[in-house]
Amino acid sequence: MEEAPLVPAAFATTREGTPFSPTFDDVYHSVNGGLAQARHVFIAGNKLHESVFKPARWQHDHPFVILETGFGLGLNFLATWQAWQAAGKPCRLHFISVEKHPFRRDDLARALAGFVELEPLATQLLKQWPVLVSGFHRLHFDDNKLTLTLIFGDAQTQLPKLNARADALYLDGFAPAKNPDLWAPEVLAPLTRLCHSATTLATWSVAGGLRRTLEQLGWALERRPGFGDKREMLTGRYAPAVSHHLRRQQAAFTAVSPAPTSLPTQRKAIIIGAGLAGAAISERLAQRGWQVELFERHPEPAQEASGNPAGVLLPPLTKDDAPAAQLARACYLYALRRLAELPGVRYSPCGVLHIAHDPEHEAWQKTTVAELELAEEFVHFIDLAKAETLIGQTLAHGGLWFPTGGWVDPRSLCTALLSAGGERIRTRYGVAVNRLEQTNGGWQIFDSANNLMASAPHVILANAQAAENLLPYPVPLTLIPIRGQVSFLPELATSHPPLRHVLCRTGYLTPPASNMACSFSTVGASFDRHDSNLQSRLEDHAGNLLRLDEILPGSAKGFSAENLAGRVGIRSATRDHLPLAGTLPAQLTSRQATQVTPKTLPRLAGLHVLLGLGARGMIWAPLLAELLASQLCDEPLPLEQPLARLIDPARFYLHAQRRTTNSSVGRKENR
Ligand SMILES: Cc1cc2nc3c(=O)[nH]c(=O)nc-3n(C[C@H](O)[C@H](O)[C@H](O)COP(=O)(O)OP(=O)(O)OC[C@H]3O[C@@H](n4cnc5c(N)ncnc54)[C@H](O)[C@@H]3O)c2cc1C
Ligand SMILES: C[S@@+](CC[C@H](N)C(=O)[O-])C[C@H]1O[C@@H](n2cnc3c(N)ncnc32)[C@H](O)[C@@H]1O
Repeated sequence: MEEAPLVPAAFATTREGTPFSPTFDDVYHSVNGGLAQARHVFIAGNKLHESVFKPARWQHDHPFVILETGFGLGLNFLATWQAWQAAGKPCRLHFISVEKHPFRRDDLARALAGFVELEPLATQLLKQWPVLVSGFHRLHFDDNKLTLTLIFGDAQTQLPKLNARADALYLDGFAPAKNPDLWAPEVLAPLTRLCHSATTLATWSVAGGLRRTLEQLGWALERRPGFGDKREMLTGRYAPAVSHHLRRQQAAFTAVSPAPTSLPTQRKAIIIGAGLAGAAISERLAQRGWQVELFERHPEPAQEASGNPAGVLLPPLTKDDAPAAQLARACYLYALRRLAELPGVRYSPCGVLHIAHDPEHEAWQKTTVAELELAEEFVHFIDLAKAETLIGQTLAHGGLWFPTGGWVDPRSLCTALLSAGGERIRTRYGVAVNRLEQTNGGWQIFDSANNLMASAPHVILANAQAAENLLPYPVPLTLIPIRGQVSFLPELATSHPPLRHVLCRTGYLTPPASNMACSFSTVGASFDRHDSNLQSRLEDHAGNLLRLDEILPGSAKGFSAENLAGRVGIRSATRDHLPLAGTLPAQLTSRQATQVTPKTLPRLAGLHVLLGLGARGMIWAPLLAELLASQLCDEPLPLEQPLARLIDPARFYLHAQRRTTNSSVGRKENR
């Protein structure tokens, strides 16, 4: 089933002031109190409450995962957060909730205003509240110890895409008679597939149909005293009598199954490369308590592709909202949230105007955003007159306005990420890794004189194009170098009216970004495939001036290519322009290769990559690092499984295997 455009919840209350949904004709929580209901039904029902005699169930060293149907006002989430804080934050906590009709931020703020004791937590939730577009949105709180994954969309289409192991379920739809979809087997079966033998559930409903479905799926249920005017509620423990029938029933709803993990358990990693990829994955692992040793051949981080003074934060759009566009959007939105909370990053969410190339492109932009029905706060079309008013300059066409896009200084982002990781990241600058070797317990790395540099159970290659030299066998990654040169324009810093937003057309122009010595705009960038030459070129400065003139007609007049300073960097991109994030495939014999599928393909235990960030590393790096860290720690993935598959580093390997198999079958048949 395709995901329909998101329709936000309409905010209303009953005469008594209880939040009410006109769409479902039901109240969001018991009239006897939403917070008390959350504590009685969901927290105590799942035995998560702490007492003198019983510590809460989340007293263990693995992250505890709660999965909810229906985020609504977030009362269950906020009450759980509060209870977990009161218990002393005993473990990392994941809260995942699926919501078909999320509230707009203002409405959510109004609805939560009545819960005074939740105010400090509600304020933090509202600050990070995502723009209302379908898909997974991951938010971090309390020094990354609490992770909220909000899944916007219909539970029936979204839950089969979730890769997680749940410890407790909160089933919280509207009354089953008014909201049958959320209690249907199409929701309960994929939920159950994510459970294990210690998983519990709680719900305020004791409806007969619900009980029968849950029991058929393998849940042992118990009726307990309900909350407020409800006489009874339901709790359950997953206790499947593993019957053939049950397996088949679950499998029918199993679009994807969580990947089996046979990864080393010791939380120690070597990371090679201190650009955006290496800094981002170092920080994500350090936040999870890993010891990280980061090796970089330069004396400082961010000296290669990640060394420009400013890059643009902008997602691509496609008319059909292709999976790759959905992936880029998720990454872009996550990157913006991370940038807003990381201290020390030079960035600005000043907005990006993507000016149309010509009238046809302008028409395409207009119809695309109208058809996709994406939230205005994410993107909308503005015509030429509005665009000129916004920018304060003469332009050629209207364009797409991304109000929260902007620019970031990637060097400052690398530094901020590394300092956020703290002492768990040990940096080793000025040393190049020359070779890897697999051992019984993991991997060893060696320098060019064959000296052992370090060993660890996990190695992550985050060294862009140079990763190909370190592969233990020739895995097809399809990486190619793409040379890019940017030009710096100090004069634009003093222009009137001042440039306040990022402008893009065939190239891009940033507002003045300061470095230590001066303030300048960046215009770029050239794009030369299979070219790794780092020398600055006059013709590329001239090309950038053409890009400038196209963006702001007439503005290149005062510049000459001869006098421009700039910077050259080498992007590293794959054949399908999507990054590579995950564990590398193991080398197979040709016989084994004929039998593998993406699910059964063996992996090279402990050898992972974050590569191929191409021309959009500033939006890719943060979420893909979170994805890789989640995979390594066996935590819920922050992305839909089909989107995570797009960036599987084994994809080209599998294509190559399939081609070889098909052609050998063809040869046999022709004999
Ligand atoms: C001109 C230009 C403009 C761009 N504009 C934008 C933009 O506007 N928006 C955007 O999102 N993205 C942009 N990008 C892309 C973005 O900069 C890259 O995708 C990103 O920086 C790549 O980060 P990385 O960590 O993968 O690679 P790098 O930053 O290249 O880092 C790899 C690191 O690995 C180190 N290394 C390599 N081999 C070894 C070894 N054997 N031992 C130790 N260390 C090693 C290297 O020294 C390097 O520091 C642009 C890129 C260029 C070149
Ligand atoms: C009773 S409210 C949830 C209250 C919430 N748990 C809280 O703590 O505030 C039920 C929620 O389920 C959502 N919902 C209804 N049908 C859904 C579906 N098919 N998929 C996902 N969410 C759905 C509604 O929009 C509503 O927000």
